[in-house]
Amino acid sequence: MHEFQNKWLNLRESVDRNSRNKKILYLINKFYKNKKNIRIIDLGSGAGSNFRFLKSRLSNNQYWSFVDISHQSTNFFKKNIKFSSKIKKTNFKIVDVINNLDKITFNDYNLVTGSAFLDILPKKWFKNFHKLNIDTEIVYFALNYNGNFQFFPKHKDDKKILDIFNKDQKSDKGIGEVAVGPNCSKIINSLFKKTHKTYVLDSTWDVNKNFEFQIYFLNFCKDIIQKNKLNLDHWLEFRLKSIKEKNSRFILNNTDFLAIKK
Ligand SMILES: C[S@@+](CC[C@H](N)C(=O)[O-])C[C@H]1O[C@@H](n2cnc3c(N)ncnc32)[C@H](O)[C@@H]1O
Repeated sequence: MHEFQNKWLNLRESVDRNSRNKKILYLINKFYKNKKNIRIIDLGSGAGSNFRFLKSRLSNNQYWSFVDISHQSTNFFKKNIKFSSKIKKTNFKIVDVINNLDKITFNDYNLVTGSAFLDILPKKWFKNFHKLNIDTEIVYFALNYNGNFQFFPKHKDDKKILDIFNKDQKSDKGIGEVAVGPNCSKIINSLFKKTHKTYVLDSTWDVNKNFEFQIYFLNFCKDIIQKNKLNLDHWLEFRLKSIKEKNSRFILNNTDFLAIKK
């Protein structure tokens, strides 16, 4: 995997770990407290951060299937995967879950999960996914961006950046269709609440001291500013200066989604 991408994933993984909503784990473990083994499928598994988070926090023996479209991320994950006594079996599948969702037999799994994945999907995917998971015991999607981030100290042009960032989030992210972006938790919740008890709980990134992470995020903003041909260099300079002076805080609002079969 590209070094830049790998570095960002590592930085993000530690922030994600601290941000995920803890009540969700409690509810999942409570639901499965009398079950010895659970079968789990991780959609958009990437380099494996959802697995690394869940494997030690779930109380049960685990049989995992990982699904992603990317050979590169999957190979990287496979090469670096670390097992523990609770991990009984793993398998990796390369599937385009946007166009071939019905290739997955969701009835084979107790827990259907994913992280940092829902917002890149097109709207039509959600209805189809719900239809295929009406009987699934638990659906858990972590770290769904909800459309708001803030840097501190504030700057008069912050809102402009947020607006173009959100517009970009809703654009085609290389999947050939427009993504739902920040509406993803709302959309999935409105479908699953008909068949499951659902929760949309806070998993905000609050990045106070991790300045390297903030620089990476600022660079994403820079790319979007350039793509939109906007003259916001003064904003970038202001942000960079605050980060370098260790006077910067970054907050990005995510939610975690959980559905438990009624
Ligand atoms: C933002 S990454 C999240 C990866 C991982 N879950 C994490 O939390 O770090 C999104 C993942 O979705 C995968 N992906 C994108 N489109 C996909 C598709 N159509 N089918 C399956 N996976 C896809 C990407 O390859 C990538 O690994």
